Amino acid sequence: MAKKKPQKAKQAKAKTAAKKSARQVVKLAAPKKANGNGKSNNLPKPSSKPYGQDGKALTGVRILDFTHVQSGPTCTQLLAWFGADVIKVERPGVGDITRGQLRDVPGADSLYFTMLNHNKRSITIDSKHPQGMRVLNALIKTCDVLVENFAPGALDRMGLTWDYIHKLNPRMIVASVKGFGPGPYEDCKVYENVAQCAGGAASTTGFREGPPLVTGAQIGDSGTGLHLALGIVSALYQRIRSGRGQKVLCAMQDGVLNLARVKLRDQQRIAKGPLTEYSQYGEGVPFGKAVPRAGNDSGGGQPGWILKCKGWESDPDAYTYFITQAPAWGAICDVIGKPEWKTDPDYATPKARLPKLKAIFATIEQWTMTKTKFEVMDICNAVDIPVGPILSMKEIAEDESLRKTGTVVEVDHPTRGKYLSVGNPIKLSDSISEVKRSPLLGEHTDEILTDVLGFKANEVAEIKNSGALSAPKKEEKAA
Ligand code: COA
Repeated sequence: MAKKKPQKAKQAKAKTAAKKSARQVVKLAAPKKANGNGKSNNLPKPSSKPYGQDGKALTGVRILDFTHVQSGPTCTQLLAWFGADVIKVERPGVGDITRGQLRDVPGADSLYFTMLNHNKRSITIDSKHPQGMRVLNALIKTCDVLVENFAPGALDRMGLTWDYIHKLNPRMIVASVKGFGPGPYEDCKVYENVAQCAGGAASTTGFREGPPLVTGAQIGDSGTGLHLALGIVSALYQRIRSGRGQKVLCAMQDGVLNLARVKLRDQQRIAKGPLTEYSQYGEGVPFGKAVPRAGNDSGGGQPGWILKCKGWESDPDAYTYFITQAPAWGAICDVIGKPEWKTDPDYATPKARLPKLKAIFATIEQWTMTKTKFEVMDICNAVDIPVGPILSMKEIAEDESLRKTGTVVEVDHPTRGKYLSVGNPIKLSDSISEVKRSPLLGEHTDEILTDVLGFKANEVAEIKNSGALSAPKKEEKAA
């Protein structure tokens, strides 16, 4: 009993301390009015406005968008969908090179451009003209983030070094996509497929017997743009505490490798023995030193493969992905008419099935070939078997449910008319994305000069007359 007393006292002391620290926590977390100058982490009172009607996630953030082609524009389009004011700076008379690439409507901005530049404003500036630099300086002072994906060194050659930018605006975040990070290839220009190859994706994509393959999903460009957007938002969040900007760098090689992470996992496993979930194991083909191409193997612990469905002879997309997830094995056996496999020791366990996956999938395919890919989906999902129809882009374009969620949207454009696009794939319940058409080249030059930068009429005239915002005249060009 006597011993318990100090124990009790200890407990009581601990309780008081806990209460005290709880009070402290409560005090720290007590909602205080945000002072808006970035000095306090305290949150304002929860908004009483209906969800979706209290601004957007990035309202108040202004982006100097120096991006072109795909990787950078993917990033700034996402920020624009979240409410940032994205001011796209384009070279006078030329603009983003994609405006004219893969054109389907003569004279109109291409789908390549329009689908990557929604919700932005466009200003044309020759960054190598002194008056152009005057406008850029003003933009740097008023923007929160500069995003660029020029070739290595191009921003510096314009005079926009980190030191220069940071001196003008110490709060500026400078975000860049480059092909490679620091190292032997840092000076290289890089496009999508180069990144897919250098990031390890191509060597692990395709069939074992064939050459490396690139994938249609733009994991190098759009994937890196996504990574960059997260880096920017994180830097904006840190700036609330630190008050200063920072550099954000996403190398496309790194972005691809991050998406191919499971293959680096397998590279380390291969040193310890064969990769038993790869169908090559079941086929008795020995592994080499590097991760092989795995065809349509699932890449995870659940064996899977692409199987023909009804109509495959004439429809190149009449296929389904079929996963033989262990808990669904009984249901699979019933569905395909092989109930005896449930108890047969040669088939009943995942380990027993591994060496004969090819033959098992061939048997399952005999069943899937009797159904359309959508029938397979309906039948299998009803009993929790994970499957997925191979959807063509035509089917996706016509999919009503994707239209309803705003993932596929129809946009109107003054020179090209209506077209389909992919809306914001990231859905926020209090920051609803509206997809607005991409800007025409230099469409917002005047309003940015006056409303955003506050130049007076005589200053605007001076800048414009200097030729810094317009395409060089033909005779000047020839001279
Ligand atoms: N005013 C004046 N000059 C401008 C300008 C403007 N508004 N905008 C761009 N320029 C200039 C640049 O300063 C650069 O000039 P410089 O080489 O004399 O310094 C020039 O235009 C070309 O820029 P660059 O980025 O080299 O374009 P490119 O067409 O030769 O290369 C890429 C294109 C994509 C290969 C290259 O930009 C790159 O490697 N980017 C990084 C990786 C990347 O994002 N790749 C994926 C693209 S989807």
